[in-house]
This record gives sequence, structure tokens and C-alpha cells, in this order.
Amino acid sequence: MTVVGVIGSQWGDEGKGKVVDILAEDAEMVVRYQGGNNAGHTLVVNGKKVIFHLIPSGILRDDVECVLASGLVIDLRVLVEELDTLQASGVLDNASLTLSEKAHVILPHHLMLDKLREQSKSGSVPVGSTLRGIGPCYEDKIGRRGIRIGDLYKPEILQSILEGTLEYWRPMLEQRGETCPKADDVIAQIMPLAKRVRPYVKDTVGFVQSALKANKQVLLEGAQGVMLDIDHGTYPFVTSSNTISGAACAGIGMGPTKVDEVVAIVKAYVTRVGDGPFPTELNDANGQYMRDKGHEYGSTTGRPRRCGWFDAVIAKRVNEINGSTAMAITKLDVLTGLKELQICIGYKLDGEEIDTIPMHGLERVEPIYKSMPGWDEDISNVRSLAELPVHAKAYLDELVRLCDCPICLVSVGPDRDQTFVLNNPFK
Ligand code: GDP
Ligand code: IMO
Ligand code: MG
Repeated sequence: MTVVGVIGSQWGDEGKGKVVDILAEDAEMVVRYQGGNNAGHTLVVNGKKVIFHLIPSGILRDDVECVLASGLVIDLRVLVEELDTLQASGVLDNASLTLSEKAHVILPHHLMLDKLREQSKSGSVPVGSTLRGIGPCYEDKIGRRGIRIGDLYKPEILQSILEGTLEYWRPMLEQRGETCPKADDVIAQIMPLAKRVRPYVKDTVGFVQSALKANKQVLLEGAQGVMLDIDHGTYPFVTSSNTISGAACAGIGMGPTKVDEVVAIVKAYVTRVGDGPFPTELNDANGQYMRDKGHEYGSTTGRPRRCGWFDAVIAKRVNEINGSTAMAITKLDVLTGLKELQICIGYKLDGEEIDTIPMHGLERVEPIYKSMPGWDEDISNVRSLAELPVHAKAYLDELVRLCDCPICLVSVGPDRDQTFVLNNPFK
């Protein structure tokens, strides 16, 4: 049995979906455990692109049990849309999916509150959220007034919690000119969706524990990235869940001793969508080159992603926080054609060299760069380290050294085939 976590190591969109799809070939179960449909995980199989926001990226592999665990926040409309799409393409017939009865439900007022915050109308800082209601849903969860999937099938419980929650938010919404939704309307809206997902609802803790007891190969699919973690990211410009590897245990209901391998998904450069500090950001032709060549536009919102040089200060710290056992380097092909590459190896804050990621002032640090030569050869058909141009190989060697972690997989294009595995964490 091996349990492998796949964790985004930057600000999301590192290529987790693609790597999960590759590793799921050897998995028997794939579990998502935090976040919600703020995620957009893209898979390209034989040239065909599929984007999942909620359903685990293992769903396209036969005989893989997919689990949506308790730590998620679920927008039922999005889940049903994904189910319908999978059903129409026949995938659902052979698929196994379970949904935790304890996952929280995203409700209409969460979407309203997310929008108000982004319009600077709620007292909280706008962060460039995905407007999917994620933050407000987690707020209700932590405030102990959230609705869980299992509540949907207990009418009295549902009515009473929902009335209390809406009462809590009513003054805030009405003061800002919004109409607070009525409990009966919300219930009427969500009941058909609740009915549709009911066959999948289970005690996923017991289900995952049985898989562990049966020595199954289990893949844990993280969403977002460590720099968006509510505790360890660039607060307040973060998402509202823990995204680090340790969050898998809490979100699933599983002991940390069960996780054997943690694969950090590391883009060969850095991107970020939304607001917040980004020391190596490039507002120049090199940044635009990465955006164009890497198609760096959000899979969830379509927003252009901010692009910049690889930041080894962040990657190294993230490997420590995650306990990464290996890195999967993605999008190396995007750097092809750049004459000279920079890797950030340190920061200066107010003229002084610092050896930390500062809690305050990250937006004003000056990166200290190490320059590396680029390469011109097309590497999208390369399938081994030996075939890589010498400068591309040297770039990877430098990442291993600076991030203090070996590489298990290299991705050189969006397609499933455009990958080479150096060390399969399941084997
Ligand atoms: P995720 O959220 O971490 O799953 O990443 P996204 O799917 O949001 O963004 C990654 C994008 O890069 C997707 O469009 C992928 O198809 C694409 N992609 C993944 N790996 C590679 C790669 O090695 N090279 C290139 N060119 N594109 C890649
Ligand atoms: P995947 O799983 C990139 C960012 C948003 C915003 C901040 C808070 O595809 O890597 P939220 O809607 O979560 O309250 O927004 O977090 N964000 C992501 N950025 N990839 C993601 O997911 C993201 N999920 C949230 O842009 O800055
Ligand atoms: Mg994404």
C-alpha cells in the first residue's frame, strides 16, 4: 500500500490535474479533501481537454474510486454539472464516486458575500477571489452555522440551521442593499440537486479507512497551492482552507502516519491569479512570453495569470512545510526559447539581505537572482533526462539543489503523453 499526496507548491495552477491523471494510472483511489470549485484542474488526454473543478482528476481512469472528502466545500450546481457531463460521455457508468456527508454546502448567500467583499463593500480586504463563495462558506463552517451535505436529507435540521445562518447574515446583506435569501427559497432551489447527488453520499471516513486496511494505492489530490494556504500563504491574499500536505489528514479523516509520499507540484516558473505579493513577477516581455506560451489564463475564471521567474526561496520553504519527498516539475517546455533564465535564490528587504519569507514586506522585497543559460531546442517530445538539452538539464539540477528535493516526474507539454517519470512514487 502507498498513499501519495499531490500538492501545489506555488500559487495554484502548477499542473496538479495533469500529474494526478498520470499517477492515477497506478492508483486505486483518488481523494480530494479541501477547497471547492475555486480549483480548475485541466487534463489533456489524446489532445482532448477536460477541466474538473470538483470531481477528482482520477475519474478518467478505470477502476479508480474517487472520493470528495469532508474538508471540501461543495457547490451542488457545479457538482451536478460535472456529473451530467461525465454521464453524457459515458465515463460515469464505470466510475465510482463518493461524497462526504460532512462536506459543507455553498449556498446563495456565500456567493453574494464573496461578491460584496471583492467590491470592497464588506469590510474584508478584496483578494481577487474566484467569486465562487468559497471564503464565506468556510466562514460559516468555522462559525459553526454551516450546512453539511448530510443535513440536506434531514428537513427539520436543514430548515433550522439555514434560518439561523440567514438571520446571522441578514443585517450585513440588507445594510449593503442586498436582499437576504429566504430559507424556503434556498431549500426549494437546492433540493433537486441534493436528490441528484444522494446516491453518492456516504461516510467517506469509513470508506477511505477500508481502502487503507485493504492496502490500496491511494492518491490525495490537493487544490490551490501552499502559498495560498490560510496559515502559511501570503495572508490575507490566500484562499480560505489549508492547502499544505498536512491538510489532507484533517480533510479526509486519516492519520499523518498513513501518508508515504508527498509530491510537490512545481511549475518551472511561477504564476499567480488574483491579488497579493509576488516577488519574481515579470511585467515585461519575458512575463508575456510565459503567459502566451504557457497559455496562462485561469481555468476557472479565464483571468490572465501573472507570470514570473522561478522562486527557489519559496519552493525550498514549501518543501519543508509539505515534507515533500519529491518534486514533479511541470511546464519546462514553456521556458524554451528564452535566452537567459533567472532563479530567485534570496531576497533583499530595505537593502538588507534576509533569509526568510517575511510576514510583512514581501511585496517590496528585491529578488536576488542567479542567472542560467536558456535553450532553443523543442523539448515537447523529449521523454528522458538524457534527451534534454544540456542547459535544460542544468536548470533542473539547479532546482533540485536549491529546493533540496529530488525530481520524480518532468512534464513537457499539456498532454498525458508529454511526461517522463523518473521515479514513480507508487512503485
Ligand atoms: P492545476 O490547477 O494545478 O491542475 O493546473 P491548471 O490545470 O489550472 O493549469 C495548468 C495548465 O497547464 C493546464 O492548462 C494544463 O493543461 C497545462 N499544462 C500542464 N502541464 C503542462 C506542461 O508541462 N506544459 C505545458 N505547456 N502545459 C502544461
Ligand atoms: P487550483 O486548484 C489559482 C486564488 C484566487 C484568489 C485567492 C482566493 O486550480 O490551483 P478564493 O476564491 O479561493 O477565495 O480566492 O486564491 N485561487 C486560486 N489561484 N489556482 C487555484 O486553484 C485557486 N483557487 C483560488 O485567485 O487570489
Ligand atoms: Mg488550476
